[in-house]
Amino acid sequence: MGNMKHIVVTGGAGFIGSHTVAALQQEGFAVTVLDNFSNSDPSVIGRIGQITGQCPALAEIDLRDRDAVFSFFREAGADAVIHFAGFKAVGESCLHPLDYFHNNIGGTVNLLAAMDAAGCKRIVFSSSATVYGDKNPVPFVETMPTGAANPYGRTKRVIEEMLSDMTASDPAWSAAALRYFNPVGAHPSGLIGENPNGIPDNLVPYIAKVACGELEALRVFGNDYDTPDGTCLRDYIHVCDLAKGHICAMRYLAEHTGFETVNLGTGRSASVLEVLHAYETACGRKLPYVIAPRRPGDIPRMQADVRKAKRLLHWSAESDLVTMCRDSWHFTIMQKERRESHAVHRHQGVSEG
Ligand code: NAD
Ligand code: UFG
Repeated sequence: MGNMKHIVVTGGAGFIGSHTVAALQQEGFAVTVLDNFSNSDPSVIGRIGQITGQCPALAEIDLRDRDAVFSFFREAGADAVIHFAGFKAVGESCLHPLDYFHNNIGGTVNLLAAMDAAGCKRIVFSSSATVYGDKNPVPFVETMPTGAANPYGRTKRVIEEMLSDMTASDPAWSAAALRYFNPVGAHPSGLIGENPNGIPDNLVPYIAKVACGELEALRVFGNDYDTPDGTCLRDYIHVCDLAKGHICAMRYLAEHTGFETVNLGTGRSASVLEVLHAYETACGRKLPYVIAPRRPGDIPRMQADVRKAKRLLHWSAESDLVTMCRDSWHFTIMQKERRESHAVHRHQGVSEG
């Protein structure tokens, strides 16, 4: 990939972005993280540096600031972009759809225009399995019709279509929309991982808080679905496998123009109770749970057809569910220790001062 040296990663301080930045650096790429830290902490940049031996460059920019994005790309000399930046909470998107259209779609319009003006015409985009909607049978194949059940999902569909239009309008453009299934786990170093503020919406971060005693019990949203144990099935994928998938997609774009959508999942699925039990194995004890009513909007089964990722990107996921849970648990403990030692230092600072 001699023609791809400098990669700009929007949202590179976030959960999936930070793992991808570390993987890119370890493959020898020069990386600039473009982030406004609206859902991440600047300390992540230093932690990536601890993993890779060098901090990535940082551009603290909001993609909604068109002038800032343009002037950044005029100077950056970027060869390609991996675009993670965006809001991602389904419930919030139903309450504040305009914020989602503004940040996700508006931010992407600014990004693509600035890239176009600078002659940087390769992009990998974070799409989601949510674009398959609730009408398709599993496993989901890229050729299936898409649908969106909420404004968040709609932003992903619209951006996929924007990328398709861009590549059709100019043969120099190449774009891949990667449809992630359920990314979980953390870097095995315990230095970076998923760290949502407040009470988590998603299953694995919630179980992690039960395991470390911050929440009382997992609420299992429904055990009367038409699935083997009555709880919903999802295709959970280790975030480090996902990160590697982005590097394979970059390699693909170095050789091909046009637009592709590709599923990134394992091709297997696990139920809510299976995930809970895998986490019990990882943390070494039984975890309390209660059966709660179904969560509105959940669909019973999601699972990727992974043949296109294998064929096109020569990529497939490797980690199993217990490894995902073990790495999540390791990160959770290390994060707790970091918070506690930070609090002790602050306290000492106050009493000494
Ligand atoms: P995240 O919130 O941890 O990371 C997103 C990053 O983007 C954050 O660091 C945030 O500060 C930054 N950001 C947001 N708006 C910005 C803006 N206007 N300008 C600059 N930076 C901005 O999310 P994540 O879980 O790492 O997800 C990354 C991408 O993958 C998102 O686009 C998300 O929709 C998509 N995705 C995530 C999942 C998942 O379950 N985590 C599943 C499917 C798709
Ligand atoms: N669940 C519980 N209890 C909880 C949290 C979740 O039982 O406290 C269940 C859910 O009902 C669901 C399963 O665990 O059956 C997984 O739920 P998540 O919230 O972890 O993930 P989703 O599949 O609902 O959605 C996630 C992202 C979406 C994305 C989708 C596909 O939140 O943005 O994966 O990528 F679109």
